[in-house]
Amino acid sequence: MRKKIVAGNWKMNTLPAEGVELAKGIVAGRGEVCSCVNFIVCPPFTHLSMVAEALKGSDIELGAQNCAAEAKGAYTGEVAASMIAALGCKYVILGHSERRQYYGETSATLNKKMEQAYANGLTPIYCVGENLEEREAGKHFDVVKAQIEEVVYNLTEEQFKNLVIAYEPVWAIGTGKTATADQAQEIHAYIRKVLADKFGAAAAECPILYGGSCKPTNAAEIFAKEDVDGGLIGGAALKAGDFLAIGKGFAK
Ligand code: 13P
Repeated sequence: MRKKIVAGNWKMNTLPAEGVELAKGIVAGRGEVCSCVNFIVCPPFTHLSMVAEALKGSDIELGAQNCAAEAKGAYTGEVAASMIAALGCKYVILGHSERRQYYGETSATLNKKMEQAYANGLTPIYCVGENLEEREAGKHFDVVKAQIEEVVYNLTEEQFKNLVIAYEPVWAIGTGKTATADQAQEIHAYIRKVLADKFGAAAAECPILYGGSCKPTNAAEIFAKEDVDGGLIGGAALKAGDFLAIGKGFAK
């Protein structure tokens, strides 16, 4: 049985005190959602220790949105994987399309970040996904395949067992335009096949999340698909009620 995951990527939103309120709201309403759903929140770095405190005593896990490619040293402005792990993070989002697009993250950088994440006991939530032009040209399968081959294929079998993949079509992020449930299933099944080509049966255990304008009104339909194991949520993760309602989308 694969894990069911609803992860919130808060991106660069909320002031620390607002983040704490949001976390408290999620903790307060968590009991309304099946305990079979694993909730993860990924606030900005500046909020991590305060949010960790607010989550104490609950089963909601903490993640960061990025980590440095190096272990430590003279890298002004960077935050090491060891630092976020020390604050209680269990997860780290890596390779988000916004990082690839605005901060020039390449597979070479991401290989180093993945290495740092594993060296510090973190589970990466590795993001893949095509942009609109690539989708319209029918290149989406090749794009995600390359994103997986260039990074995930470098993992050991042990590391692969601690990996979450998020498929996030760039054209669906923050646009209100969601992939249809069938589009999500088609590419999730393909991603699982690409993973199986390298890691065999272990691919059946890897959670693959959908991200891109996922909200309470469409989550259930998308999560009902065989190879969709949950969501990586942006905008709708900023309201405790919406975030929790997305978790209620699991019927299986
Ligand atoms: P939205 O849910 O706001 O479209 O963002 C998705 C996303 O990028 C999560 O990482």
